[in-house]
Amino acid sequence: MIQKTIWDSIEETQTIFIEKDFFTIEYIPETFKHRDSQRDRILYNLKDRLSFHKRPYHMMLNGAYGTGKTLTIKHIFHEANRKFPKVKAVHINCKTNKSSYQIYLRIYEKLFTGKIDTSGLSTFDILDRIIKKIAHRDIVLLVALDDIGSVKSSKDLNDVLYNLLRAHETDKRVKIAIFTVTNENILFFFDGNVQTVFNPIEVKFPKYSYDEIGSIIRERCHLGLYDGAIDDEIIEDVVRYAYDCGDIRKGLARIYKAGLNAEYEGCHKILKRHF
Ligand SMILES: Nc1ncnc2c1ncn2[C@@H]1O[C@H](COP(=O)(O)OP(=O)(O)OP(=O)(O)O)[C@@H](O)[C@H]1O
Ligand SMILES: [Mg+2]
Repeated sequence: MIQKTIWDSIEETQTIFIEKDFFTIEYIPETFKHRDSQRDRILYNLKDRLSFHKRPYHMMLNGAYGTGKTLTIKHIFHEANRKFPKVKAVHINCKTNKSSYQIYLRIYEKLFTGKIDTSGLSTFDILDRIIKKIAHRDIVLLVALDDIGSVKSSKDLNDVLYNLLRAHETDKRVKIAIFTVTNENILFFFDGNVQTVFNPIEVKFPKYSYDEIGSIIRERCHLGLYDGAIDDEIIEDVVRYAYDCGDIRKGLARIYKAGLNAEYEGCHKILKRHF
């Protein structure tokens, strides 16, 4: 007789989640609502310029925590890469890529897929190769610097912006558009040299209303939980909590934890006591 292992028992007690990943902070939903005007503003800039293979205008995406900035730009960059073969759109998380070297490296990896041995290359070498590649191949480069306030020093921040924004001054063929993403006013940190060439279109991401938070959380429950695994009344409490915290992530995390507790108990429903 085959003996059951602890792993088999864990499999059998999965009663709540269709897909746990939908509730983690890394999860990027495939579709999203309530950000149409921001999405359209960015798309208009891209379509209008990229259809003629011109550099789009620089953009600055601003708004509080969890207002869909990263979600929106990642979706749009994904589409731009798919639609325009001569466009390379690179989304860079500055929380994990804090130095100018790391930022250039992420761009380099996008442009030189398959040939990414960078050992021995200095920051300058990497930048130089990026610029030459986009000029020779007539590529339009879009760079999103997400959480740009996390770049480790003002020097690194200004170096990156200066070098990317002014590269066309040494080679007219270079086309680079910068998208900053932030929840603070960062223009203040930019040197005069940067400010004079960075005149972005600002796209504001306002906080979600109570109803919008409700619809996002409800939809996530619908996608990620089995039918009947959570009652409307409980969802309503979570929506209220997320709204009061001003952070949709907190609401999703709360459902995740309660779901794990319910599942651990072998319960088929998330109840108040699981929070
Ligand atoms: N319109 C939406 N539809 C569905 N889910 C959303 C929506 N907006 C936000 N979310 C959810 O909230 C999470 C946070 O969104 P996102 O990472 O885009 O916020 P952000 O504005 O970049 O926040 P931060 O300033 O903290 O980086 C997403 O992972 C997603 O799960
Ligand atoms: Mg973000």
